[in-house]
Amino acid sequence: MATIHIESTPELVAKAFADYLLKESNEKPALHVALSGGSTPKLLFDLLATSYKYLIPWAKLHLYWGDERCVPPTHEDSNYKMTVDHLLSKIDIPKENIHRVLGENDPDMEAARYSVEILKNVPNENLIPRFDLIILGMGPDGHTASIFPHQMDLLTASRICEVATHPESGQKRVTLTGNVLRQAAKVVFLVTGGNKKSKVKEILEKTGNWKLYPAAHIQPVNGELIWFLDYSASNK
Ligand code: 6PG
Repeated sequence: MATIHIESTPELVAKAFADYLLKESNEKPALHVALSGGSTPKLLFDLLATSYKYLIPWAKLHLYWGDERCVPPTHEDSNYKMTVDHLLSKIDIPKENIHRVLGENDPDMEAARYSVEILKNVPNENLIPRFDLIILGMGPDGHTASIFPHQMDLLTASRICEVATHPESGQKRVTLTGNVLRQAAKVVFLVTGGNKKSKVKEILEKTGNWKLYPAAHIQPVNGELIWFLDYSASNK
């Protein structure tokens, strides 16, 4: 079952989630959080870096990425670079709390290295890391993290991270796999924009081709699933 939180605009979605993150971070001694990439988080990160800059206990947050493009950290496609530009360069968070994917490395080597880094830092159950919070976006094709419809096997892969391939560009990415996403205590989808409306409806109502969309297969095994949507992405 999912909790659905709908706001009228992307800005209000960002605020609603920022308040949620503030509450979560105040309730725990430490919070292991996997961030999503793409463009949706930019609004949230800009808000966190301004109105919430002195509210969020940043030293309690340990930040990871749910997926990263296999490019250098200075590349325009880098999710890490986007996060630095919109958030990390503007807040006071200990450097040791930032666990970036080394996009400049060989993809297979980095998938293995990042899996070990996560296991060393994130509490795990039977060697499956249990993030306190995983923030996910969803593409218009129903992909999430870098698990695309043409690589559904990544939903059940046994490794913590795998190398994925973008279906159009062929770009390599390192992604958390489905079992790790489902192990989280809380999974939050942040989805805005009318180009996602049809997939959101199919997924939430389990109609149409919902089984073909990776984002439909991230029901936490022992955790909470929340969708934060704007009116355009919902059916309001
Ligand atoms: C990435 C993301 C990806 C993203 C969706 C939505 O690396 O691109 O992690 O899963 O969340 O593609 O992207 P937008 O927010 O740009 O719509």
